[in-house]
Amino acid sequence: MDGGTLNAVARALVAPGKGILAADESSGTIERRFKSIGVESTEDRRRAYREMLFTTRGAAEFVSGVILYDETIRQTGSDGRQLVQVLADEGVIPGIKVDKGTKPLAKAPGELVTEGLDGLRERLAEYRGLGAQFAKWRAVITIGEGLPSQYCLGVNAQALARYAALCQEEGLVPIVEPEVLMDGPHSIERCYEVTRDTLQTVFDELYRQRVSLPEMLLKPNMVLSGTENATQASVDQVAEATIACFRDVVPAAVPGIVFLSGGQSDELATAHLDAMNRRGPHPWELSFSYGRALQAPSLKAWGGSDTNAGAGQAAYLHRARMNGLARFGRYEAALEKEKVAV
Ligand code: 13P
Repeated sequence: MDGGTLNAVARALVAPGKGILAADESSGTIERRFKSIGVESTEDRRRAYREMLFTTRGAAEFVSGVILYDETIRQTGSDGRQLVQVLADEGVIPGIKVDKGTKPLAKAPGELVTEGLDGLRERLAEYRGLGAQFAKWRAVITIGEGLPSQYCLGVNAQALARYAALCQEEGLVPIVEPEVLMDGPHSIERCYEVTRDTLQTVFDELYRQRVSLPEMLLKPNMVLSGTENATQASVDQVAEATIACFRDVVPAAVPGIVFLSGGQSDELATAHLDAMNRRGPHPWELSFSYGRALQAPSLKAWGGSDTNAGAGQAAYLHRARMNGLARFGRYEAALEKEKVAV
């Protein structure tokens, strides 16, 4: 695929008013999410839940793309269409998680490295054949005493860049996701520092490995106070710190920054994105690629039962709509009460 097409896909994913649904939970993660609502994770339940999200009428107005898991991209929905086709028929761009998760990093206690490069070129070609137009690879960086090490930042950045270069060769837009975890007692200043160092290391490697910046998206954490810090930064402080950090290290050639929610509450994740977009215009689109922050209320409303699918869809559509407004800096907390039926 030529570069112009990849740039067009990247830009479509961050079209005004739209963002991405991350529905690419691995089998272990979706099992934990289902357990939280007392539902056993079977293949059919996972299919039913995701089909409910993907068939929500009106969601495509706010959701440009969906990141799928390997199982989902091969699944057929209840009407006989492939789930990937269900999305494509709505004009939603299908994407795929291609990393194989994290493992402890050798000789670096407490740090992780993401695996999945072996055979990646062939897997990317297969996923493209199955309809994926973009991919995702998540690296995880932990803040702790003396952590992260530059060693950890380096190996994760190198893997992210190898993945991104392969994606572009195979005609997929890479979403480059270095996630600095929000867990811990650290301050927002420490998060700023680690996020800046992480991104600087990642962009160094992307450059070295010839990755084309207009043909990728960045999926980072926001700059936040650690979850166990008694002082929690305000929405305005988070917006200011996050924008300052990204202006420092993210080249303007990157079309969009699509934040992960990382464990923030759904409404706070929306408020933060909104506060950032109110401070625009920025060199890049500032959008969302939320998992939990788009799905949590929907998962709860569904509760594992098809009879609650309407309530699950209404909850999902509402969060999608709120985040769509946040893309323009037009979200108001008062709108949270205006849920519309699907
Ligand atoms: P959260 O928004 O729940 O952090 O998930 C986004 C994601 O894709 C993490 O890899």
